[in-house]
Amino acid sequence: MGINWINSTELSSFNKLVGLKDQVVLKEVMSGENGAERVRNYSAPMAGGLAYNYAAKQVDDAVIDALADFASEAQLLEKYEALYNGEMINTGEKRLVLHQLTRGQLGEDVIADGVNKREFYAGVQADVAEFAKKVHAGEITNGAGEKFTTAVQIGIGGSDLGPRAMYLALENWAKAEGLFKMRAEFISNVDPDDASAVLNGIDVEHALFILVSKSGTTLETLTNEAFVKNALKSAGLDPSKHMIAVTSQTSPLAASDEYMAAFFMDDYIGGRYSSTSAVGGAVLSLAFGPEVFERFLAGAAEADALAKTPDIRQNAALLDALIGVYERNALGYGATAVLPYSQALSRFPAHLQQLDMESNGKSVNRFGEPIDYVTGPIIFGEPGTNGQHSFYQLLHQGTDIIPLQFVGFSDSQIGNDVDIQGSTSQQKLGANVAAQIVAFACGKDDENLNKKFDGGRPSSIIIGKQLTPEALGSLLAHFENKVMFQGFAWNLNSFDQEGVQLGKVLAKRVLAHETDGALAVYSELLGI
Ligand code: F6P
Repeated sequence: MGINWINSTELSSFNKLVGLKDQVVLKEVMSGENGAERVRNYSAPMAGGLAYNYAAKQVDDAVIDALADFASEAQLLEKYEALYNGEMINTGEKRLVLHQLTRGQLGEDVIADGVNKREFYAGVQADVAEFAKKVHAGEITNGAGEKFTTAVQIGIGGSDLGPRAMYLALENWAKAEGLFKMRAEFISNVDPDDASAVLNGIDVEHALFILVSKSGTTLETLTNEAFVKNALKSAGLDPSKHMIAVTSQTSPLAASDEYMAAFFMDDYIGGRYSSTSAVGGAVLSLAFGPEVFERFLAGAAEADALAKTPDIRQNAALLDALIGVYERNALGYGATAVLPYSQALSRFPAHLQQLDMESNGKSVNRFGEPIDYVTGPIIFGEPGTNGQHSFYQLLHQGTDIIPLQFVGFSDSQIGNDVDIQGSTSQQKLGANVAAQIVAFACGKDDENLNKKFDGGRPSSIIIGKQLTPEALGSLLAHFENKVMFQGFAWNLNSFDQEGVQLGKVLAKRVLAHETDGALAVYSELLGI
């Protein structure tokens, strides 16, 4: 059977799903023994020892069956299969979409441009691993023959957000496990204060800079590279003895001899999907060692394999994606908050903002034709419990209902904890997430309307024992696959990003002083 790429509203199962609006009253189903039963049963296994619990979502068997019918009619698993077998899925840029191949092979060999792509990505990772080991062993050094102590990634968007979020997620774990090799820093913003602050805070003489840009043309990254090279020269250092590059073989940087080494990705790995390629591989292997990076890849590979599971109740990424479609298209919710109860995941919401919104923030289908249904939600978030003392007011009592995506672990990463008034800090953290889920779902009556909680606010939680490299890889791939399935469901091309271009073109005009009208006045006001 061939694949039918058609708009959601042309599928009868989608229209049936959209009609299932008032199916579940969350407050009722989550109260009493019913609620306990749901929390025990509404759970799907994830890779890396995690589980996706959707008890507090506005779904029941009828909705889930409708989601399964939609998944089948929309051929979501067949589309995934086509993707990992190397079909041209990125219609806007006419490219294959191969990020899953950076961590494992799910189907047939993918041969593109005369190259076996799994072998290519694995080969690059082996080169990165060898390089990192030599840096750790002091076989690759700075110009004075001294060991590098800090890695500094220069990149923006996908060349920053994912790798930075992953580094922060494992930094304290690696220190606690005695696996920490090198500190990493990140320069992304073209704001000169970003590069200056990082450079001021490190020992430049012993810093290894990783220039990361798939295209090799990004204004911010090339500007920051020049900024750093300038600082190195001012310190009497040779930039070519302090810098490596991660780029695509077709980029203008690829042929440069200004780097100690260059590691390649290609056009089939989207920036926001590149954490498991050399884009994340270089900095993470330097910081924690290649073995830890391998464990992270293994968690992601296990998640990719699970995403092939036909039964949606056992396929967490597909289920999460479809519940999101139901919330967006049937229930009309316009945003999703990502709320990790883990300080290590402090930048994970920022990574998901790009992953989700750059992928599915689209108003035309994969053929460039207008669509008549809503697509990707607004994504935002902060780690709990900090968020509780900030924007949770609106989440609990605001006029919009915002579905919530919690993440929580029973164990901390560092293990150092203290019992205060009968509970540890980790227990207090866990108590808060449990309390929030029930508070959002069930609410509380009060004669004083100002103190009343309506409840009926849906959430899910991804739960694990500890945030390890495997769990992190699983978490990353879960969301990549969720976004991919949602893109398929909405008949979008989730792998291009034309919406970022116009601003870049206008900024170039401002810098070339080719402006008029409002643009000219704004430029003047900003001192350009
Ligand atoms: O402008 C958006 C974007 O293209 C992102 O999609 C990408 O992650 C980022 O810029 C950085 O791109 P590059 O790695 O090519 O410098």
